[in-house]
Amino acid sequence: MMCLPACPPALALRTCLGLGLFVLLCLGIGQALENKVVKSKVGEKVSLPCCHEIPSSESLHNYRVYWQKNITDVVLAYPEENMIFQHERYQNRTEMDPWNLTLWISPVEILDNGSYQCVVQRNSVLVCRESVILFVTADFSKPNITAEVSADSCELTEMVITCSSHGGFPKPKISGALNNMSLEWNASWVSESSLSPYNVTGKLVLNVTKDVNITCSVEYSGFAKSTSLPLKKTNNCIVPPVRPPFNVITASIIIVVTFIVAITLAARYLPRHVCSHCCKRQDSVEEAVKEYTKAPMSSKVTAETSSV
Ligand SMILES: *[C@@H]1O[C@H](CO)[C@@H](O)[C@H](O)[C@H]1NC(C)=O
Ligand SMILES: *[C@@H]1O[C@H](CO)[C@@H](O)[C@H](O)[C@H]1NC(C)=O
Ligand SMILES: *[C@@H]1O[C@H](CO)[C@@H](O)[C@H](O)[C@H]1NC(C)=O
Ligand SMILES: *[C@@H]1O[C@H](CO)[C@@H](O)[C@H](O)[C@H]1NC(C)=O
Ligand SMILES: *[C@@H]1O[C@H](CO)[C@@H](O)[C@H](O)[C@H]1NC(C)=O
Ligand SMILES: *[C@@H]1O[C@H](CO)[C@@H](O)[C@H](O)[C@H]1NC(C)=O
Ligand SMILES: *[C@@H]1O[C@H](CO)[C@@H](O)[C@H](O)[C@H]1NC(C)=O
Ligand SMILES: *[C@@H]1O[C@H](CO)[C@@H](O)[C@H](O)[C@H]1NC(C)=O
Ligand SMILES: *[C@@H]1O[C@H](CO)[C@@H](O)[C@H](O)[C@H]1NC(C)=O
Ligand SMILES: *[C@@H]1O[C@H](CO)[C@@H](O)[C@H](O)[C@H]1NC(C)=O
Repeated sequence: MMCLPACPPALALRTCLGLGLFVLLCLGIGQALENKVVKSKVGEKVSLPCCHEIPSSESLHNYRVYWQKNITDVVLAYPEENMIFQHERYQNRTEMDPWNLTLWISPVEILDNGSYQCVVQRNSVLVCRESVILFVTADFSKPNITAEVSADSCELTEMVITCSSHGGFPKPKISGALNNMSLEWNASWVSESSLSPYNVTGKLVLNVTKDVNITCSVEYSGFAKSTSLPLKKTNNCIVPPVRPPFNVITASIIIVVTFIVAITLAARYLPRHVCSHCCKRQDSVEEAVKEYTKAPMSSKVTAETSSV
């Protein structure tokens, strides 16, 4: 019971460790209370709830309130003369609601991320003690996707895709999709420290065989930013000059051969029927023989020229 007035929580914890009773008592209360979680973005104003509300019949003057971070940093104390050493980072950035003892921090910084404790005493008796976890996030820029053609052929276009986003916190995940099919980026992160903004870059090599949409998403602490880019398969197929002429040649050969066959047949049979009525019999026989010998020779020649 005497531990808290004797031990301003922020700095003097070590001096209190000798008093086993105090540690047991404080831990017992701390474990009974579940941790609350608050999320905030860099630059915003955030409120961290405490565990007690001053009844309207009472005055804050009967109370002592400590807000501390991670056991070691004093964020705020009431009354102010109990403030052993307020951490510099919190000077001029904090306020406390005089009724529900809520701590306001504005503007929030990345370094504010962490676990906070609120300790309330009334007439030197512990009223309550509670932890709140503050998760600080900073927005990433909308991802920038660039595609560079590295190789190009008739069947596929090989592209080097880069997706980048910067200035966010905490360390993000980067994911991708190709027309809803998920894909893996080869990711790299840059940050000055584990409590500084991150830049993230994803790279991959892709064989594009048809027009597709590529999506890049940067996910951090439950938030996500994404961008899509349509990738066009560059159609550089040179029309092959062999195929259509091949068909033309086949067709023309068929036509020529048909024509020759028709002429040969006509030469063989037509003169007999025509000449049997109008010509002399001996002449007609001779002519028919001549035509018969000539026809195969001439058809052979035309067939050769046409196939060349
Ligand atoms: C505390 O009071 C302030 C206004 O006085 C209010 O905005 C805030 O939501 C309250 N917080 C809790 C935890 O009740
Ligand atoms: C307190 O801070 C130290 C160093 O800043 C860190 O190693 C430790 O994990 C923190 N503890 C809690 C409970 O946040
Ligand atoms: C807080 O404000 C006071 C008065 O405006 C100023 O003197 C002091 O330097 C400020 N502290 C910080 C850490 O900015
Ligand atoms: C923010 O603080 C919480 C609570 O201490 C911790 O779990 C989390 O890892 C911290 N986040 C970062 C990025 O350090
Ligand atoms: C995207 O990245 C390219 C190459 O790094 C750059 O030229 C371009 O300005 C960037 N676009 C945006 C919107 O940042
Ligand atoms: C991709 O998925 C989204 C939602 O998951 C859906 O709305 C959209 O129609 C899908 N697109 C294609 C091309 O499948
Ligand atoms: C990812 O990138 C690194 C550095 O650019 C490279 O060494 C590594 O081979 C790449 N991994 C894959 C799977 O492409
Ligand atoms: C992150 O990217 C921004 C903008 O591109 C740049 O100004 C900054 O220096 C980068 N940060 C790091 C740690 O590389
Ligand atoms: C893309 O196609 C080229 C040529 O077929 C092959 O060498 C390469 O490995 C392929 N790359 C990927 C990422 O599939
Ligand atoms: C890509 O997305 C755009 C709009 O987001 C849509 O109009 C187009 O049909 C998509 N293309 C493919 C190949 O999915």
